Amino acid sequence: MKRAIFGGSFDPLTLAHYDLAIKLTEHFDEVIVVPAYVSPFKIGEMDLSGEERLELLKRAFAPYPSITVSDCEIKGEGTSYSYITAEKFYREEDQLYFVIGSDCLATLDKWARPDRLKKRVTFLVVKRPYYPIKQEDLDRARKIFKVEIASFDGKEGSSSLLRVAVAFGKQREVVPETVADYIEKKGLYRDYCYITERYDEFGIKPSRAEHIYRTANSAILLAKLNGANTEKVVRAALLHDIAKYMDEQSLEKYGVEYDEAVTSLPPACRHQITGARLALKAYGETDSDVISAIESHTTGAKKMNIYQKIIFSADYIEEGRSFDGVEKIRALTYENLDDGITAIFENTIKYFASKGEELAPVTIEAYEYHKKEMKK
Ligand SMILES: [Fe+2]
Ligand SMILES: [Fe+2]
Repeated sequence: MKRAIFGGSFDPLTLAHYDLAIKLTEHFDEVIVVPAYVSPFKIGEMDLSGEERLELLKRAFAPYPSITVSDCEIKGEGTSYSYITAEKFYREEDQLYFVIGSDCLATLDKWARPDRLKKRVTFLVVKRPYYPIKQEDLDRARKIFKVEIASFDGKEGSSSLLRVAVAFGKQREVVPETVADYIEKKGLYRDYCYITERYDEFGIKPSRAEHIYRTANSAILLAKLNGANTEKVVRAALLHDIAKYMDEQSLEKYGVEYDEAVTSLPPACRHQITGARLALKAYGETDSDVISAIESHTTGAKKMNIYQKIIFSADYIEEGRSFDGVEKIRALTYENLDDGITAIFENTIKYFASKGEELAPVTIEAYEYHKKEMKK
């Protein structure tokens, strides 16, 4: 028999996990889903208890007889070491595999007790979007373990993506039905609803809300790839266009000033300043990283920090954009944020030139500064 161990925190089970488990059943006789134990010190960071995670997995996979859900790590009540789990499921007559995402390959040689682990399992690496398998990582891992690469790819899924989906009522697009039913009943993952619930008040149309949703999804991915704080990035993304449809009068009601800093910008860019101010006045958003990211999202700025860079580029490359060359710029940005930003500036300059329109001076300054920084 060929059996596969598929571990993770499953907080909660997303469609990315769910689809992968089902895909695995096409290649393995048994798929053993193992939710990880979480130490009491880290419980505060979790949304679901061990029992809840276990229950949701069992419910979701009930229709699949070749998928078993194991409570061995959760009931183990201690740090879950993979070599212990591997030894528990090992049978001499079977081939046992351990499924990992391509994001874990680089650190596989650091896993505990490789001497014991390598006797029990072959690793199966599933390629995750934007985490390419690097040959040097593969070579290093293969010095210790047997490593195979899956013939199929994984999808993106995370609790951050779920939180954003819930804020737009799209949870059923990112988690299985059974999980969606449960989190709706319990009112879970509603962290960002306080922002989207007020979109009507600011005149945000459904198509604009869709753009904001996609921008937040791109921003989450960029945050993960570049080590930025996901929560700040999500708040900045959800707030970045809130003032897009607000005129001077409607902004006044919130105490947002429409001064020289606003009027000196081309009309299409003004909402970056008014938006940042409205985020403070209407939502009490005071985080300087969030505010500065909103403030520079259309024009860019000199000395952009990671949050400014992420929102500036996520807004430009989100999946709904369809202008010529966007796919190349998108791939480049996920590969290397600074190179992506160079391409965004260059494409913007080209676009304005082709329309015979003038670019905001701040964009030119930002581009010149960025170019200089890149040469260092
Ligand atoms: Fe905008
Ligand atoms: Fe936008």
